[in-house]
Amino acid sequence: MKKDAIWIASPVDTGVAACTFEKKFNLTKSVKKATLCATAMGTYVPRFNGQRLGKGVLAPGWTCYKERVQYQTYDVTALLEKENTISIGAGQGWAVGDIGFKSNNRYFADQISIFAWLDILFTDGTKTCVATDESWNVFTNEVTLTEIYHGETVDKTAEIKLLGNARAVKIGSKVIPQVGEDITEQERLAPIALIVTPKGERVIDFGQNMTGYVQISITAPRGSRIVLHNAEVLDSEGNFYNANYRHAKSEMNYICSGEADVFKPSYCFQGFRYIRLTEYPFENVDLANFTAIAVNSDMKRTGSYRCGNEKINQLYHNIIWGQKSNYLDIPTDCPQRDERLGWTGDAQVFCRTAAINFDIEKFMEKWLGDMAIDQAKENGIVRGVIPVTMKHPTRISAAWGDAACIIPWQLYEAYGNKKLLKQHLPMMKAWVDYLHRTGPAEYLWLGGMHYGDWLAMDAGEDSYVGATSNDLIASAFFAWSCSLVVKAGKVLGEDVAEYEALYANVRKAFREYFMENGMPKEEFPLTEETRPGHAMVDTVRKGVTQTAITLILHFGLCEEEERPALAAKLVELIRDFGGRMTTGFVGTPYLLHVLSAHGYTDVAYSLLMQERNPSWLYSVTHGATTMWEHWNSLKEDGSFWSTDMNSFNHYAYGAVFDWIFGVSSGIKPVAADPAYKTVEIAPHPDKCLGWADASIESRNGNVRSYWYYKGETVYYEFDIPAGVTANVTLPSGKQYTLSGGSYRFAE
Ligand code: BGC
Repeated sequence: MKKDAIWIASPVDTGVAACTFEKKFNLTKSVKKATLCATAMGTYVPRFNGQRLGKGVLAPGWTCYKERVQYQTYDVTALLEKENTISIGAGQGWAVGDIGFKSNNRYFADQISIFAWLDILFTDGTKTCVATDESWNVFTNEVTLTEIYHGETVDKTAEIKLLGNARAVKIGSKVIPQVGEDITEQERLAPIALIVTPKGERVIDFGQNMTGYVQISITAPRGSRIVLHNAEVLDSEGNFYNANYRHAKSEMNYICSGEADVFKPSYCFQGFRYIRLTEYPFENVDLANFTAIAVNSDMKRTGSYRCGNEKINQLYHNIIWGQKSNYLDIPTDCPQRDERLGWTGDAQVFCRTAAINFDIEKFMEKWLGDMAIDQAKENGIVRGVIPVTMKHPTRISAAWGDAACIIPWQLYEAYGNKKLLKQHLPMMKAWVDYLHRTGPAEYLWLGGMHYGDWLAMDAGEDSYVGATSNDLIASAFFAWSCSLVVKAGKVLGEDVAEYEALYANVRKAFREYFMENGMPKEEFPLTEETRPGHAMVDTVRKGVTQTAITLILHFGLCEEEERPALAAKLVELIRDFGGRMTTGFVGTPYLLHVLSAHGYTDVAYSLLMQERNPSWLYSVTHGATTMWEHWNSLKEDGSFWSTDMNSFNHYAYGAVFDWIFGVSSGIKPVAADPAYKTVEIAPHPDKCLGWADASIESRNGNVRSYWYYKGETVYYEFDIPAGVTANVTLPSGKQYTLSGGSYRFAE
């Protein structure tokens, strides 16, 4: 039983190397059931009598380790013999290794340790338990270096030595059963090309930017060495380029045994499309020896989409791979550089889309659990990164911290799980309470160090933060989060009068401070604290921007009669910018929704189909296979946005799929009867797509909306699962209430 186990570590600190914990034991009686439970500070690989257990990799996943760590459960009944060996290899992983920008190692734990117990139930009804204690042996491991950011060294010639008996260590964390999904190996991709670059380097292209690792099967002379480096893109000359990995070395060193070897990392992962054979023992490279293995949380795919426009299909492909690559136990910003962190803003922006593509309920339940724990330590504050990972925690920023309210509500709409919403409501309230008691104004969020409309295009070329006033964004999100607390409270039958009053006050204060005659004011005094090195923050003060108007309309901060003029102004701003958007992380997810909701679906489509930077199709026409961090990560002149912050696998802008699915194809859950039990189907067809076929395998069955043009007539086909009510609105305004069945319309 769990209480029999203690945390154990190697008697000598193995530093960056992995080690193996081993326990031998004999059995004399026949066994009915044997279950091994295990976890680690680090990442671990469990074996029983030589057999690799489970399909999960990178267990136990990433939690706020100082407070809680998940354990995994393995049925080993069929593997039992008279003489048995439990063997658990463990590497540094997230808990011990270098994580969170530069030199931030050992943030969660001082050294690799494990905690495990094997419960055995004999056929005679008696029980025994073999649990981690100081009788376990610790050995060196062929993995002599392993780091999430820096890669792995596997030495097949290394002599495996006994380091001695395990040492008991004090770890105060709660050991809990796994909440999230397993992280598993998914697609296996063969190389599409071997490239010899102008610099003469040998580079293998797997054709897809992804998260995971490369497996190499090779027989090479004993002691010969393979060194691999990862990259997402080649530079404009076609040379290998990995400057955007920053401090992350992402380097694999493999030393061959002389026999047939299979190499792949065991305790870490990389983000890549290309590998460079920095050292390789042969002149000839047989591509058949290389396989890229995608690794991500094992979520059920729920959404599907295809349309008549191949560029949009590629965009959708990129969105899916962006999600796969960044849903690796926690929602990360990117999988390659020295971050790979649980950035709350990114997660919030993309959550609705994510919940269409995959069933993310369990995945998010786990991460939000960590958010609540980290929040409780700071009295309501939700930091930019969860699990909080840095000695100097990230900023408290609007639209990042608001993930605490936005994500639980979106999960409720998608899955209708009241129990989960109830679990999240205290966190939602605590965030809003924190905003309320943090001055300087009672009902506004003024000042502070925000990320603003991150990476927006309206504060000049190459700026990190757009032109929209941070105060306006922060106060708008304060109102929005407050409104979500009210909605959630009402669903749960709680008295939320206090939050209703707060919402009314915040909205009123917002309108008084930021608006005039139904429009945002032009400019605001600068109240943001400036951040050294990010000079563009100084320019953040505008009120009349695409993002500001989008937020005002989407968050309902205007009166009904003000909507037409605001929407017209938004369209004017888009036209003024050459028919393109200027929005960053904050405004982009809502922009097309706002346009459609105010009669400008044509403008929404023109933004969707735009190919000039900034646009969604700019990256597609420049060969992207995942979403880019910047609209123009690769600039028109072939140069890169920067070397220090330029990911080619950042899902945030993929949030546009929520509009493609929810408005163009028209399928939306209805909050009053969530989980698509009642579904709104209101397609907005357009000839630029020709046809579109969208469906979601919801908790209440498969909902499908398909439309296509024949001449000027549009045909619609809807599949509604039994027990589901669909409120259909066609573009003509005709409305139907449909129950389970397949339907066809034309107009
Ligand atoms: C991350 C972002 C994140 C941001 C905060 C970046 O370094 O990659 O996606 O949200 O910092 O502004």
